[in-house]
Amino acid sequence: MTILINDDKKLFTLQTRNTTYQMKVGDFDYLYHLYYGKRVDHQDMSYLLYDGPSHFAPYPYESENRGGSLTLMSQEFPTVGTGDLGSVALDIENADGTHVVNLKYKDYEIFDGKYSLAELPSFFSKGNDAKTLKITLVDVASDVEVELYYGVFEDKDVITRAVRISNLGVGSIQIHKAQSMSLDIVAGQYDLIHFHGRWASERNVERLPITHNVTTLGSDYGVSSAKENPGFIVAGKSTTEMTGDCFGFNLVYSGNFQATAERGTLGQNRVTLGLGDNQFSWRLEPGALFETPEAVMSFSSAGLTQLSHNFHNIIRENLCHSKYVNSPRPVLINNWEATYFDFTGKKLLQIAKSARDIGANMLVMDDGWFGERSDDTSSLGDWFVNEQKLGYTLNQLVQKVNNLGMEFGIWFEPEMVNEKSELYVNHPNWALNFPNQKPLLGRGQLVLDMSKKEVQEYLFERISDVLDSANISYVKWDMNRPITDWYSKDLSSGRQGELQHRYVLGLYKVLGALTRRYPDVLFEGCSSGGARFDLGMLAYEPQIWTSDNSDAINRLDIQYGTSFFYPLSTMGSHVSASPNHQNGRITSFETRANVAMAGTFGYELDVTKMSQAEKQQAKTATDFYKKVQELTFTGDYYRLHHSDDIVSWQIVAKDKSESLVTVVATDVVGNPPFVYIKLRGLDDNSRYLIGEKVYGGDALMNAGLKLPPFKGNYPSTRIYLKKVK
Ligand code: DGJ
Repeated sequence: MTILINDDKKLFTLQTRNTTYQMKVGDFDYLYHLYYGKRVDHQDMSYLLYDGPSHFAPYPYESENRGGSLTLMSQEFPTVGTGDLGSVALDIENADGTHVVNLKYKDYEIFDGKYSLAELPSFFSKGNDAKTLKITLVDVASDVEVELYYGVFEDKDVITRAVRISNLGVGSIQIHKAQSMSLDIVAGQYDLIHFHGRWASERNVERLPITHNVTTLGSDYGVSSAKENPGFIVAGKSTTEMTGDCFGFNLVYSGNFQATAERGTLGQNRVTLGLGDNQFSWRLEPGALFETPEAVMSFSSAGLTQLSHNFHNIIRENLCHSKYVNSPRPVLINNWEATYFDFTGKKLLQIAKSARDIGANMLVMDDGWFGERSDDTSSLGDWFVNEQKLGYTLNQLVQKVNNLGMEFGIWFEPEMVNEKSELYVNHPNWALNFPNQKPLLGRGQLVLDMSKKEVQEYLFERISDVLDSANISYVKWDMNRPITDWYSKDLSSGRQGELQHRYVLGLYKVLGALTRRYPDVLFEGCSSGGARFDLGMLAYEPQIWTSDNSDAINRLDIQYGTSFFYPLSTMGSHVSASPNHQNGRITSFETRANVAMAGTFGYELDVTKMSQAEKQQAKTATDFYKKVQELTFTGDYYRLHHSDDIVSWQIVAKDKSESLVTVVATDVVGNPPFVYIKLRGLDDNSRYLIGEKVYGGDALMNAGLKLPPFKGNYPSTRIYLKKVK
């Protein structure tokens, strides 16, 4: 049983294969959190609750022994005004101006399958793989009802959470903060591992102690951002890749978010995650309901690798409806780094032809095909093909590409508008802009008000028109600036605080409509590279361009950080030119290809300029990738080694029948020693063929694989292992 209820003790237990999550209705009908961690059976964990004196802390009026202070007890969903003085998950301004939501337990419901959200993406169940628990809490004085939803994926060791808030009163209330989850970890000292960055350097790993100061992570960029990813980990002090306790948290959301981690006065730890509350507020009229984005969490007692596997598995199987999640992806050639804006249809055809010869099977026409766009100063919003520039109609060009035996993909940046565009001239009030201020520009462009119905309809219609006009198999959905100027002409002054969230809802509406209408089109996300690499976008688009930084050596860090939550099947990863356009580094073709293979492989360079020898290498690399794509997308991923001189990773098939190991030397020394890499995830009792030699799985994992010394500029190697029958 996944969800166990003890009605007498009012105990709720969520059991997954390896974890237990427990809550209890306690004194005065408050819902307390008891435990989340390694699976325990047959145990009421109430004994963990704080039952000492409140001392000088505020406690409920009903408490006769002055105990039960909510700031000392572990709360399931801490709220404002109840004496819980830590970070709260819910702050509401009631109709009378008070900030208090004193939630008491009302009832619960269990149902088969996984709950879904009305306007937001969320994980879905397949067959019988999930169950839902709904716990309803109510504040009869404030007339606020809160439903806590728990989606329990037993086999995946994952629990999802979302919250619905209803106004049962007669006056309107204002939500100032509504987090999707809060988790109190009663005791222990932990680290916070988070993934921060900037353009061209996304998802750097930082490990910090959780202290008595509140650490707040988040984004105010309007997108989930390169600055901070919504995924973060709470790990035991000594937790490593393969040992120790760790909790992972992430949010199915693509806009502003925030997460907090703090150590309470008694050493208890609290983590919250949800919508960013900076400038956020939401007016809830009587009878109305507000739904938070979905949070997802998992626990591993076997280190960070297992935690990553839990997230990889559920993201691959229960998040995105696209048919491409489980079907081979094209090896694409994108013309961006080959030509930037300077291309014609003829040039694209030359690139396509050469790319076909190295095994690519899709040409993607990037930025610059529409309006009068020949640089980044104009035309965003004018999604009409520039036939003069292409020298063909879109249909003619696509047919010619198809005739080469290649599919065709196209770039859009739908959420943006340039002042120099017909769209802006006709609809200046569709752009976000404070009424009496000059707008802030980012890359010379403005952001469309995605909360506006007319904008949503325009984008759906324009993009559909383009997709209907030719045989288009792929769309790259780009978004290239942080969002500022949060003011919508459609919202009253009291509702401007809703805009950030309404923007994201509008974005999802358009994406949902388009992906439903074009189920055969592969959508790839992008935001100045990887500035919107999140579960919200992955619910619509099975892959995202990981970073605009295509340097193989920088990519080692970017892909490493990304891998903690996101599977390789989601990471757009291309071979680009050397010297690299972002940092001028020179690397061999082999190393560029080996690194790009840890993702959705493609090319991003002028193939027509490659030497014959390079083309030959490229063909070999593409063929090899096609052979290992399924393994790469479905296998278990191991971060073997990540130091200043060696980076190495391994993919192992679920049935342990094959594996791919990649090793890159980022520094080399004179008189170099042999390199020994201990492999993981193989079958102890089986033998594996590497080239012509056979090795025991146990030997490779315990003694390691022995590699010849590395020499040269960023040398690398890939080793394919096949189990011997
Ligand atoms: C930013 C993206 O990350 C690039 O790949 C490219 O599509 C450019 N935008 C085009 O403007």
